[in-house]
This record gives sequence, C-alpha cells and structure tokens, in this order.
Amino acid sequence: MPIVDIKGMLQHAYDNRYAVGAFDLVSLDFLEGIISAAERCQSPVILSLAESHFDHYNFKLLMAAAESAAQDATVPVAIFLDHGASLNSAVQAINLGCNGIMVDASHQPLSENIALTRQVTEMARACGVPVEGELGYVPGVEGEDAERHPGEITYTTATEASEYVRQTGVDFLAVSIGTVHGRMKGEPQLDIDRLREINQALNIPLVIHGGTGLSDDQFHRLIENGVAKINYYTALSDAAAQQMRSNISDDSSGGYTRLTAGVRDSVSAETERCMRLWGSAGQAGAVTRATHPWSPVEHLIVFNVDTISDSEAEEMMARGRRILRAIPGVRHVLTGKAIKEDAKYRFCWLVRFVHPAVIDSYRDHPEHVRFADELFRPVAGDRISIDYQLGSK
Ligand code: 13P
Repeated sequence: MPIVDIKGMLQHAYDNRYAVGAFDLVSLDFLEGIISAAERCQSPVILSLAESHFDHYNFKLLMAAAESAAQDATVPVAIFLDHGASLNSAVQAINLGCNGIMVDASHQPLSENIALTRQVTEMARACGVPVEGELGYVPGVEGEDAERHPGEITYTTATEASEYVRQTGVDFLAVSIGTVHGRMKGEPQLDIDRLREINQALNIPLVIHGGTGLSDDQFHRLIENGVAKINYYTALSDAAAQQMRSNISDDSSGGYTRLTAGVRDSVSAETERCMRLWGSAGQAGAVTRATHPWSPVEHLIVFNVDTISDSEAEEMMARGRRILRAIPGVRHVLTGKAIKEDAKYRFCWLVRFVHPAVIDSYRDHPEHVRFADELFRPVAGDRISIDYQLGSK
C-alpha cells in the first residue's frame, strides 16, 4: 500500500464524520504497535513524529523506519511532523519523507504565528505538502501530568481563525477549545459551541491536540463538529510504561528485552481502541479510493563535460550534492560516472523530488539557479534531462 496524500485522507474523514488518529511514535515498539492496530481494524493512520521528542530518538533513523513500515502496510498511511518549531525543521521533515507538516507557533503573538506559519505554507506548498497550523494555545507536555503545563489555555475564536486561515493558507487547523497535552486531573471541560462556530466559519478539517483523557462522548461531539484528526500520545506512553512496570515487578532482574516485552501489544491495543471509537476502523478501502498515492519524482540528467577533466567534473558534482540536497522537496542527490569508458553519456545526476510540484520550485530555487548557471551548464553542453514519476510500491 502506498503512502497516501494526507489532504485527501483528512477530507474523506471530514466529509464522512470520523477522525483519523495521529499517533506520536517514540520507538520501533510504538511504530509496530500503531501499524498493526491499523491493519487489524483496516483503518487509515497518521504516523506522527513530534519535534519535542527529538531528544529521545534520532529523527532521521525513525523516519526511515516509519517510511518503510508505511510502504509495507496494508492500509493507507501518512507521515506527519508534529509541533514543528521552525521553517528549517519543516524543510528537514519534508526532505526526510514527511508528507504533512504541523507548524506550531501558537505560543507566539498572533502576528508572529501568522508570519512563521505563512513562511512554512509557502515553502511546503511548493513541495506539494499540506500544512496544519495552530491558533489558540493548548498547554501541557505530552506524556507528563497536565498540571505541569507551562501557561494557561488560550481559546481559539472563530473570527481570528478565519483571518488566520486566510492569511496563512493552512490546510488544517488545530484549535484550542479546552484540551491540554498530557495527563489531566478530572475531565476536561470542552467548549463545543465554540468548536461548532469555528467549523461553520472555516469548513476545513479541524485538529484536536491533547486527545488523552477525553471521554467517549467528548470524542463523538468533537467529530460531529469538524474534528478529522486527533493527536494522541500520553495514553500510549502510559500503556507502554505500565507494561514495563508490570514486567519489572514480575522479574526485577530481567534484561532490556524482558522489560520491554509486550510494550508493542499494549500500544497496539490502546491504538485499536481509539480507531474503533473515532470511526476510522473499516475506512481503509474508501480512503485508498479517495486519495492519491504519494509518489516521488526522479529528476534524471545524463551528460558529458567538454572543457573540464573527469576529476574536475567529480568535484563540481560533489559541490552540487551539498548545495542541492538542502533545497526544499529534495529527498536525495546522487551522482554517478558510467562504468564503460565509451558510454554515450559519461555522468549522471539522480535527484529525487518528494512530489511533482518540486519540479517547478526546484528549477526556480535561487541555489539551484546559481549552481546550474555558474558551475554546471557552462561545462555540460551535451546533456539530456527527464523527470520520471516513480511507481508506488
Ligand atoms: P496527548 O499526549 O495529551 O494525547 O496529546 C498528544 C498531542 O497532542 C500530540 O501533538
């Protein structure tokens, strides 16, 4: 099953009144548990990687695993950067394979939130990647007790939300209507009237952060009023930790694999409970039909050099690899030299774009224009360049 376009996935959920879970993963146990739950209940799923967790794992390594698991899954999957803090982190996430981005500047004054979010949406749109912004402030720390949250809730208003979406161009909006990240004491009071008003004003898929601790009825009322994506982590973390505590009490001298035994299944059971409760269970087939596969483009150039030596050509390509791989939407830049001396073309570039939209934005990107005009085209008059859409797995 290919990774699928997240805009189509969330629009399907919004139109059909269910919510897709965006489950934050922090290890391979979480990844496997989340994917196996989605497969058991034939649910679309969002693998979510939160920037606030990057101290706990290597983002690049876990992204590679998430992408591989998504490609092998039998259900539609999307991969999301959660709580991205800057333009740089959004570019890094896209170039590592995220096909949806959250930019979170909700703790900043409105004008600064709008300015950063707009920068991210402009960059991401040129890569074909949808963006979630957040307006209003959802306090708390995922995985922690909610009373440790820094700051108070700031509620989203419908008027500000309309202006924010108009000025930033976000595809999905995370709203603050009473949830907090992390473990809450007592039942949160949700302002459903406020949510209804925001939904009527915007008519785009809405997102709830701080899913842990809400009642079944609260989830249903959120979904009835436009919530199509629910971010969820603390309850998964607590299920994993509870499993480990029980392993330790059964066997206090057990090694790592004994202490973590069963974590994957505990995470999976809680994920499955959410998928059934939020109505995404059973929607995998419909989402596959309603979405486009997320398939990359290979930008292939074969060329000969005329005025420089082979070793100078290799130096020029090494410089190009460093410059071009930092451009938004570029997955990799590979270069090669023909094995046979008499090959019709001696050298090649293989530049992988995340999406066909990058064909234009890459061509016009100032770093690409400078490299191509100053270092590449003057020495490589004899060349062929073709963009190939790659088949999805
Ligand atoms: P909880 O940890 O409260 O479930 O919230 C998760 C979240 O919102 C991640 O973005």
